[in-house]
Parts: sequence; structure tokens; C-alpha cells
Amino acid sequence: QKNGYPHFMLKEIFEQPEAIRSTILPRITMDNLPDLSVDQIPNRIFEKVNRVIITACGTAMHAGLIGRALIEKLLRIPVVVEIASEFRYQEPIMDENTLVITISQSGETADTLASLRLAKEAGAVTLSIVNVKGSTIARESDYVLYTHAGPEIAVASTKAYTAQLSCLYLLSYHFAYLRRTITKEQCAEYIQELKSVIPAVEQTLQLDKKIDAIGKNLICKEDLFFIGRGLDYALCCEGSIKLKEISYIHSEAYAAGELKHGTLSLITEGVPVVALATQSKVYPKMISNIREVKARGAEVILITNERQEINREIYDYHIALPNTSDILAPFTAAIAMQLLSYYTSVHRGSNVDQPRNLAKAVTVE
Ligand code: F6R
Repeated sequence: QKNGYPHFMLKEIFEQPEAIRSTILPRITMDNLPDLSVDQIPNRIFEKVNRVIITACGTAMHAGLIGRALIEKLLRIPVVVEIASEFRYQEPIMDENTLVITISQSGETADTLASLRLAKEAGAVTLSIVNVKGSTIARESDYVLYTHAGPEIAVASTKAYTAQLSCLYLLSYHFAYLRRTITKEQCAEYIQELKSVIPAVEQTLQLDKKIDAIGKNLICKEDLFFIGRGLDYALCCEGSIKLKEISYIHSEAYAAGELKHGTLSLITEGVPVVALATQSKVYPKMISNIREVKARGAEVILITNERQEINREIYDYHIALPNTSDILAPFTAAIAMQLLSYYTSVHRGSNVDQPRNLAKAVTVE
């Protein structure tokens, strides 16, 4: 049932506060510490881990990119994110001290399942982040951290993605606290902050009408670029896949610093560039990248936190996200990107919930 929404995708976008809440809250103690014992994940499995591999496909893989940044920042343990269809045909380096995290909404994606089996054969510790209860990936993993997003019907993944992020944040904080790379107080602060994402996500959904109007201006465009740095770049990858799959507009995600190594030649008068600039550490660098594209005539859709002061000359449209700490900006930024893809597609008249050539669960290679 669409509950009065015109499409499942929009309904699922609006279900995100609840999906995040249900995924996070049951796994937090009264003192704001993560507790994965409810998922029967014993603390001892984290003791000897010296390497983490995250494998997944598509949007789930993009969630993994955020997971990598978190684990490396908090634990200083090397993490690689592997596209499952590539990983399974390589000769990955894994042993019993490797934690392999497999991420999948459906729990049935063939390549992701094959990479899980490969990890098990190598003796790695396997933990999956899955939405569908009792699915094959959930059954075959040593440990499962379920996303409580509820059924996702639209082909384009939305609430499953932010629920996957929720699990990755919880897992990273838990892991870091167990390994004492963050103190109990720091951990409690991180968790407190993570809970504040729920109202921030609710506020982001109120940007709906504004983003609808921006989407309307994109309907005649055939190529679009997403640029960002750090966590924002990972979000650009997600923004780009979402737009492509449902609107059929070609788009590319670019690390903003890479533009001048090739892509800048494609930026001409009227080419839309979504510039995501939520990370304060690289904010001045992003602004100079935005000036580079603006100077070549790009139509800039700038996404920042509310607190940023920006020069009116560098953008055509501006989406101001509710303020969060930099580390949590992926939640609000993801939702703005989802709404932009959704409305652009609706105005182009495409079949939003069931885009051509795509299936919800990809059980073939
Ligand atoms: C994009 C999308 C796909 C899936 C991918 C993996 O919106 O939905 O990229 O994320 O096919 O699917 P799961 O998560 O079921 O393994």
C-alpha cells in the first residue's frame, strides 16, 4: 500500500525517520552505549580483527564507502570496499583476523552472496547487514545485523540505504569502544549525536517542495555531474546512481579534485553540477572547485549545511541541510539527493518505482 503517496519511492523516502529510529534505538543502552548482544554478536569477534573488507553491490556498496571512512577514522584499521562482482573473481587477501562485512537489502544478490561464501572459505569472520529477515545472505553469515527498514518495494533503494548507514555507524562506534580507540564518554557522545540524526532527517524531508522545484528545472538535461570530497564524494556516487536509474539522465560522480584531470572539458554552458559541500575540512577546496565549474558556465546546485555562509555568485540553486556534525551529514545529504532524483524523474514522466531493465533483487550474475 502506498498510504496516499503517488509512488512507493516517495513513501519509502518519507519512512526514513522511522527506519533509522527502529534500526538504532533497540541497540543502545540507557547510558548511550551501543549494544549488539541483542543481535547475538559477541564482543570477542572484534578482538583480533586487523583488516576489514566490505563487499556489496550498487547502493549497498555506496553505504560501505561511508563505513570505510568511519572505521578507518575511529579505529585506524585498514578497510577496503569491494564491488562484490569484482571481489569474487579476484584473489582477495583474507584470514581469520579479517572481518568481512557484506551489505545487502534483499539478502539475495548473487554476487554479494558469492563474495560472502568466498570469505567463509578463507576463514574470515563474516558479518552481514541485511534488511530481509531469513534471506540467504543472512542465513549464511556468521553474524547478522538487520536493518529494520521494513519492506522496500521501489526498485531504487532509499530507506534501506540510510538504515544500512545506521548499522555501520553503530557497528563502528561499538567496535572502536571495544578496542578502546575511543573512550566510554566519547562513545556516548557519538551515540547521542547519532540519535539527533532522526530530527535532522525529519527536517530534511521538509525541503521536499523546494527540491521538487529544482528537479523540474533538470528535466531537459541529458548529462549531469555530482562533485564532492571525502564523505561527500561517497554520497555523490549514491546521488548519481539514484538519478541515473530512475530519471535516465546520464550522470557521473566525481571527486571534486579530479575535475581538472579530465572532466572539466565536459563542463560547458548550462551543464548541471550538483556540488555537495558538507565537510568543513575540505570546504574551502570545494568552493574553489565550484568556482572552476561556474566559470565554465555550469548550472550549480549547491548543497551545504545551514550554517555555511555562501557567496550568492557561486550557485544557481541552494539546498541548505539542517546542521549536523560533519560525520553525520551523509544522512541528510542522502535524503536531499533522493528527493532530487525522485522529482526529476516524476517531471520527466518515467516509471519511478519500476525503472526499465532493472529488478529489485538481482539473483543472477
Ligand atoms: C540502487 C539499488 C541497487 C541495489 C543493488 C544491491 O538504488 O537499489 O544498486 O543497491 O542491486 O541490492 P541488495 O542491497 O539487495 O544486495
